[in-house]
Order: sequence, then C-alpha cells, then structure tokens
Amino acid sequence: MGKGWTAKNACKYTLYEMAVQCVEADIDFIDRVYRERRGHLPVSLREDFCGSAAAAVEFVRRRPQNSAIGLDLDGDVLEWGNKTHRQPLGKDAARVKLLKKNVMEVTRPPVDVEMGMNFSYFIFKKREELKAYFKTAFRSLKPDGIFFLDAYGGSDAQVPQEEKHKKKGFTYIWEQHSYNPIGSDVENRIHFKFRDGTQLRDAFIYEWRLWSLKEISELLQEVGFKRVDIYWEGWDDDAEEGDGNFQIASDAESCPGWVAYVVAEK
Ligand SMILES: C[S@@+](CC[C@H](N)C(=O)[O-])C[C@H]1O[C@@H](n2cnc3c(N)ncnc32)[C@H](O)[C@@H]1O
Repeated sequence: MGKGWTAKNACKYTLYEMAVQCVEADIDFIDRVYRERRGHLPVSLREDFCGSAAAAVEFVRRRPQNSAIGLDLDGDVLEWGNKTHRQPLGKDAARVKLLKKNVMEVTRPPVDVEMGMNFSYFIFKKREELKAYFKTAFRSLKPDGIFFLDAYGGSDAQVPQEEKHKKKGFTYIWEQHSYNPIGSDVENRIHFKFRDGTQLRDAFIYEWRLWSLKEISELLQEVGFKRVDIYWEGWDDDAEEGDGNFQIASDAESCPGWVAYVVAEK
C-alpha cells in the first residue's frame, strides 16, 4: 500500500502512527531511565490515552514477563489497535488489556510505569483537572513507580502555521490552527495529503492548553511525586535538528520548537 493511498482508502490510524508516533523510542527511553533509577527493567506498564495501544504492545513484546494495560475513551481506536497490534501477538495478547476507561480512573494492580505520550494530557485545561489526573497516576503506580510524560513548546508553538512532512505515500500536515495568549489555549489539527491530490482534512483535532514545563513539574510535586526531571534533547549541528538523545537538564537555550520528556518518581 502506501503509494496507492487516497483520502478515500487510507486508514487515518495507520497514517497517524506513521506520521506521529515512535513507540520504540518511547519504550527505549522508559527502559533506560527506569533501569538507571531502579537497577532493573520495568515489568508492568499503564499506557494512558493509548489510542491503538502501540506502546503497550511494544512494551509487552520486549520481555516475556512484561504486561500492560491501555486506557482510552474511544472504542473505535481501541478496536483497531486490538486487531492491528494486540491480536497479532498470539497467546501473548493475554498480557495486554485494553480498557475503555477514563484516565482519571485509578487502576489495579499498581504498575511500575505509567506513560502518557504525544501531549495527550494537554486536554486537561484547568489546573485542578490536571492535578486530579496526576493524582490518579500517583495512585496507580507501585510505591517505587515512575510516571513518564512528554511536552512540547517554544516560541513557534504559539504561532498559527502549517508544517508539512513528506512520508511514504502521503504528506503529513501539522496545523497550529489557533493560540490564545490569555488562556494558553491552542487548537492543533492533523491533515493528510495524498499523491492523487486528495486530502483527509481534520483527521484529528486537538483542543489543548499549552502547559509550561514549570507548571507541569510543580503540579506533579504537589500530588506527591518526590522527584521530577526534565529530559532535554541534544542538538545535531549537521542535521540541524534534535539528535534524539534526551538527558536531564535544568537550563536550556530558548529555541523556537522543542519536545521534552517529563519523568516523575514516586
Ligand atoms: C493524541 S491521541 C494519543 C494517541 C497515542 N497514545 C499517542 O501517543 O500518539 C489522544 C487519545 O486520548 C484519548 N482520550 C482523550 N481524553 C481521554 C480521557 N479522559 N481518558 C482516556 N482517553 C482519553 C482520545 O480518545 C485519543 O485516542
């Protein structure tokens, strides 16, 4: 497929995964940091806002003792993830549970790692809502559990604009549709364009609050996480882009666009 994709026949979930996600890199990062902190690898994971649960399945694929749960409110994407990622695991599919649940629900048994990627928690626009979500994460983790999030920002994040990226068989368009400097509200949209000229407009629409790293860190500490670190990405001078190597930082240069990991330890 790929070459023959059009707005009519393409699957928006496949396109999203190809354009946006890199679950291997996320799980590599989680394994690395967890082992550095705890001296061994994690065996249980909760993926919040899991969508197709690609990360939960990747985690389970890594080691035979691993298990994962994924939480999402959208039954359609959960079903697509079940067919596309979970069922192909065969008998190991039993180690992945997909739950049509709100991430605001505490889950049992407690897990080593909870993750929420691709800025999904920016959906919580009020301080009290985000704090309640972080509290849920705290309660769903084991006493030595670690919570992993990502965040994005930079001066460009506040500018309505479109960014186009060529992918195999389609173009991925990230549209920053609006930014409200008073409420810090952003609306971002994802569109896909195909070789035949057709477009899948508004495949995904996100109405978020653009939270700062400082606000996120403070809220995590307020709910009880005893250590919160920001992992900042290194810079590749030749490629003129981030090098994919994330290290703990407390100072960073102002830059137009950044993505960082947030790691909160119980
Ligand atoms: C940006 S997508 C994230 C997909 C994928 N996990 C990733 O990292 O790219 C956000 C997902 O969050 C889900 N969602 C939004 N609010 C939720 C909530 N309160 N509880 C559970 N899932 C929620 C949506 O249904 C959607 O699938």
